[in-house]
Amino acid sequence: MNVIVEQGSIEKTTADTMIVNLFEGTPEPGGATGAVDQALHGAIRELISNGDFKGKQKEMVVLYPRGALPAKRVILLGLGKREKFDVEVIRQVASAGIRRARELNAQSVATVVHGGGEGGVSPELAAQATVEGSILGLYRYDALQNAEERPKDPQELRLVEFATEKIESVRQGAQLAERICQGVQLARDLVNMPPNMATPKKMAEVAAQIADDHHMNVFVGDRQWAESQKMGAFLAVAKGAGEEPQFIVLEHAPSQSNLGTLVIIGKGITFDTGGISLKPGEKMEEMKCDMAGAAAVLGAMKVVGLLNLPLHVVCLAPCTENMPDASAYHPADVIFASNGKSIEIISTDAEGRLILADALVYAHRYQPKAVVNLATLTGACVIALGANVAAGLFSNDDALRQKLLDSAEITHERLWPLPLYEDYSRKIKSDVADIKNSGGRNGGVGTSAAFLKEFVSYPWAHIDMAGMALSDKDEGYIQKGGTGFGVRLLVQLLLNWTKSAS
Ligand code: BES
Ligand code: MN
Ligand code: ZN
Repeated sequence: MNVIVEQGSIEKTTADTMIVNLFEGTPEPGGATGAVDQALHGAIRELISNGDFKGKQKEMVVLYPRGALPAKRVILLGLGKREKFDVEVIRQVASAGIRRARELNAQSVATVVHGGGEGGVSPELAAQATVEGSILGLYRYDALQNAEERPKDPQELRLVEFATEKIESVRQGAQLAERICQGVQLARDLVNMPPNMATPKKMAEVAAQIADDHHMNVFVGDRQWAESQKMGAFLAVAKGAGEEPQFIVLEHAPSQSNLGTLVIIGKGITFDTGGISLKPGEKMEEMKCDMAGAAAVLGAMKVVGLLNLPLHVVCLAPCTENMPDASAYHPADVIFASNGKSIEIISTDAEGRLILADALVYAHRYQPKAVVNLATLTGACVIALGANVAAGLFSNDDALRQKLLDSAEITHERLWPLPLYEDYSRKIKSDVADIKNSGGRNGGVGTSAAFLKEFVSYPWAHIDMAGMALSDKDEGYIQKGGTGFGVRLLVQLLLNWTKSAS
């Protein structure tokens, strides 16, 4: 979908479908909606006075101007209560509006910038959120089916802004959103792609493509390379894998950068059967999402490239399947991570922390200002915070934690801080090795984070996004399937990092 920003009066648009809005409890529509109402001889005022349209969030009514306006149809969209209005409401209503337009087979859609007038949100953020909600709301993964019966996506979205002085900000917000959405779409595609296709090799190909498109450096280590690096933890998980493991290093190294290095790491288990500690069959298919952390960091790198951020960003994605096999690693095995620490395997299903351990050790060489890892790490985190509610956030650095919380606030990819108590570290002490890879059921999210902490020597944050990678229903701008969680969050963090330092 082509996004176009235009200065003008929306009632004059030649798009076939127009979207205007109204706050709940507005007696007299003003601004763009007022102008449309005038042209429609008071049709909107009548809807309101009859109590047929209240303006509740995502409430919609379709009006047919029958020649009174160039557009074929007008979608009047409720913004909800003014007090509850924010950028997230903008994304929500924008997705609702454009999805209705698509159902009606709209080819060209003109919309006001939701909240661009009197919502208390800056024109740039309002435009960004309007475009994010629209693009992400239309997302679907239909690469593998004949989807001819479905309505086609509108070909263009025109953001119509009347105020000349706001046009430049609107344009900037819209363009930023388009780029961010490309990263989110990539991450969603990778998570939705079945595990026989989204293999470690595929992940590496995607990384190579990003490097190619955006002048980044890419390196992909295979099993043999990992052996040369003594990555015994990553290799243990990969032992039973039929697919060749791939340790992806993707580096954005702009020449202007003097803000230090940030490393982002994503868990890339392309399918998690549990290994010898086999998972139950029911819902095992959901474990195709176990590379959502890797998908998120690759999606974020795509955006970093599109924006050409003046920041040294390194992305690490250890990728492998976790399979039961004659050569698979066993419970009771003792293995050595690349920093020399010995690990007793309690469960081969606690594999994410193992592949991350070697990546965290690898990150050390960059002397990073901060390292953030994203991982679908524990079912315990989903039990604690719920599915599609919030990801768990662990950090050894207060400033980094706050930066992530600030970013999460803006993007509405919610994070909730969880503690790194010593008690958790004590629970993963082993009788036969330095540590063990599971501390048992109780406090499972805390002990997994305590495990990762053993491999960290810099400001670090761990995001457990096990409950956030998949959605079981269409909801606003999030569709059933891969959510793309983490891409917008990481991009926001990197943008803020760039801004605060310059
Ligand atoms: N990939 C899973 C965690 C997960 C659960 C992701 C639900 C997405 C949704 C992880 O590898 C796992 O199996 N964790 C175990 C750890 C346990 C064996 C210590 C778990 O959470 O049960
Ligand atoms: Mn597992
Ligand atoms: Zn896993």
